Amino acid sequence: MKVTFKIWRQDKPQAKGAFKEYQVDELTEDMSFLEALDHLNERLVLRGEKVIAYEYDCREGICGQCGVFINGRAHGPHPNITTCQLHMRSFKDGDTIVVEPWRANAFPIVKDLIVDRSAFDRIIEQGAYISAKTGTAPEANAILIGKAIADRAMDAAACIGCGACVATCKNSSAALFTAAKINHLNSLPQGKPEAHQRVLDMTAQMEREGFGHCSFTGACEVECPAGISIANIAEMNARQGKAQLLG
Ligand code: FES
Repeated sequence: MKVTFKIWRQDKPQAKGAFKEYQVDELTEDMSFLEALDHLNERLVLRGEKVIAYEYDCREGICGQCGVFINGRAHGPHPNITTCQLHMRSFKDGDTIVVEPWRANAFPIVKDLIVDRSAFDRIIEQGAYISAKTGTAPEANAILIGKAIADRAMDAAACIGCGACVATCKNSSAALFTAAKINHLNSLPQGKPEAHQRVLDMTAQMEREGFGHCSFTGACEVECPAGISIANIAEMNARQGKAQLLG
């Protein structure tokens, strides 16, 4: 299999970037997309050229590190998967594949396909935790949680923080990410003591980071590898209104 990769190259944050084309052969349909990029990088090393910088860690859809835009879509042509779960069989022999980094003001480019997503970390720091006394782990059934609530919390907790929601949103909104992190903890009894402060602090940080406002297009839900529903955003907004009323 032979394809042409058209890849965004940018040496450093302030440098002017540009697309560069690479013809790559000896690929197989069974290769993952990241293996194909590895293959290209090996060729670049042999030619004494600078390798393409991109991020990954788990390569199994868990860590959220590997996000890039592929042919104009976050994580490539299929909904609800990560870039590392994409395989070359999703493309045809002779295809040109355009690869670029997430584009959002709050995610500045570090190098080539790598962006700085520490804005997400700073939102998390504002409240994606619970305060509990340390010591022996409590008995598992000491706090009973109904299945519907547990399911809702677990669904929200599935967010891997990849940033596809921001990258695919025309407003570069981080509402889906922030809502998932808030609803995960605010749904559960363990998260209740700090529930109001959590939603106020995390949404305030989201604003400070320069993410856009959500206009409910639903694009984020389509591309989210964890399938986080935009119903979470409505729930976050309701929680925010309540927290503002109750001070
Ligand atoms: S490398 Fe971990 S989600 Fe893709």
